[in-house]
Amino acid sequence: MPVEADPLILLAATLSLATRASLRPRPVEVGQAGAAGTRRSVRDDTAAAGCRYAAATEAVSPAGSAGHRTWEAVLSRRALITGITGQDGSYLAEYLTAEGYEVWGLVRGQQNPRVRQLRQLLGEVRLIRGDLLDQGSLISAVERVQPDEVYNLAAISYVPMSWQQAELTGEVTGLGVLRVLEAIRVCSGISASRSPGRGQIRFYQASSSEMFGMVRESPQTEQTPFHPRSPYGVAKAYGHFLTQNYRESYGMFAVSGILFNHESPRRGAEFVTRKITLGVAKVKLGYERQIRLGNLSARRDWGFAGDYVRAMHLMVGQDEPVDYVIGTGVTHSVEDLLDQAFKVAGLDWRDHVVTDAAFIRPAEVDKLCADPSVARERLGWEPKITFEELVGMMVEADLELLSSGGHAEDSFGDAW
Ligand code: NAP
Ligand code: GDD
Repeated sequence: MPVEADPLILLAATLSLATRASLRPRPVEVGQAGAAGTRRSVRDDTAAAGCRYAAATEAVSPAGSAGHRTWEAVLSRRALITGITGQDGSYLAEYLTAEGYEVWGLVRGQQNPRVRQLRQLLGEVRLIRGDLLDQGSLISAVERVQPDEVYNLAAISYVPMSWQQAELTGEVTGLGVLRVLEAIRVCSGISASRSPGRGQIRFYQASSSEMFGMVRESPQTEQTPFHPRSPYGVAKAYGHFLTQNYRESYGMFAVSGILFNHESPRRGAEFVTRKITLGVAKVKLGYERQIRLGNLSARRDWGFAGDYVRAMHLMVGQDEPVDYVIGTGVTHSVEDLLDQAFKVAGLDWRDHVVTDAAFIRPAEVDKLCADPSVARERLGWEPKITFEELVGMMVEADLELLSSGGHAEDSFGDAW
């Protein structure tokens, strides 16, 4: 993607990473000068380069006309999110935008259908093309965006798919982490012999409780050893250790959040929570009579995705890069989930659920439960939404979606 020969780019290039870092602003209050000062029109930077600089330059000009705009506003933090079209990417983009960030999202493919939906929801977000399989595209994206923070959320995240496409999962979910870290390292000019200074790009890796797999203890803490049970879990463990290694090798501010399952009305329809809440809505509305599921006794620590993106941001904002376990500390079985979801619709799941061997996994993670006490003590993070509220929210959203003629895939859009 060619970069425009725009003189504003050259001007803004003087706001180099180092300069931006030395003038690192404090967070900007939502709805105050900062948020207004950084507000811009919708731009799709997969098509045009250079507009961030134009916008930043507009914001600097004549102080009088800028009203409450301040240097803090102009130099508000810039975040690059990979996986922005996913569940967490959308919540994180919303959250950071509200915090006054300039948010950029990496999107892949020529005709990615989720880009249109993303733009409808998050007009403020800027998009740039790139793929975790393509090192050059990641270097270009980091070079172009010059982010203060990079959140690597992109992955093949559906566990059963990782057995069907194990090599691809290794490439995207595992080696993809290496490529993003390398892009940051190269663009920051960090070599083995150099510790980065204060202006370094901060990196967040989306690690997973799947790494605990066949758990050695319960609940799981930051110290619990890993025993992944799927190619996905193995790939995540690679990304986790690599993030730690780049922190230790190069002094990079690189952290991993070991997040337990988190869900929302934006959750992909392949995951068990959403499969059930969509199923309940279909049964309730008379479209279907049955839901076919696999292992009903598996237990997970389910929380709300909107709560978990706050934790990601808190981790990146700490003085020291440290990995944290993030979860609710409460575990429920798939049967509990069924109970709760059908109850919301006034139905009994036993009348509608069929177990189907097709959904049984080659190796299962039987039970996950977080001990989030370190995050609570050091980050001040606590989940706000309970399991019951989460399930209620998802069933209600799916009833509304389907009764207004929508489909599961529409839930990444207006129906949110
Ligand atoms: P998700 O909804 O499945 O989103 C995955 C994202 O990755 C999508 O935006 C997808 O983009 C992108 N992606 C896939 N392959 C890519 C590639 N080759 N290059 C660039 N982007 C690519 O996942 P999520 O639930 O939001 O989870 C976010 C992250 O947290 C993932 O890394 C997941 O493994 C991890 N995690 C999730 C949970 C959870 O419970 N949700 C728990 C622990 C960890 P397209 O739209 O182009 O497909
Ligand atoms: N998807 C699915 N579909 N799961 C089913 C079904 C079914 O029909 N029936 C039972 N389950 C069980 C699975 O066997 C598993 O034990 C549990 O429900 C949860 O499955 P998922 O919702 O697919 O999530 P996951 O725990 O495998 O993985 C999710 O959480 C991880 C964090 O622990 C994903 O978001 C991963 O990306 C994430 O890392």
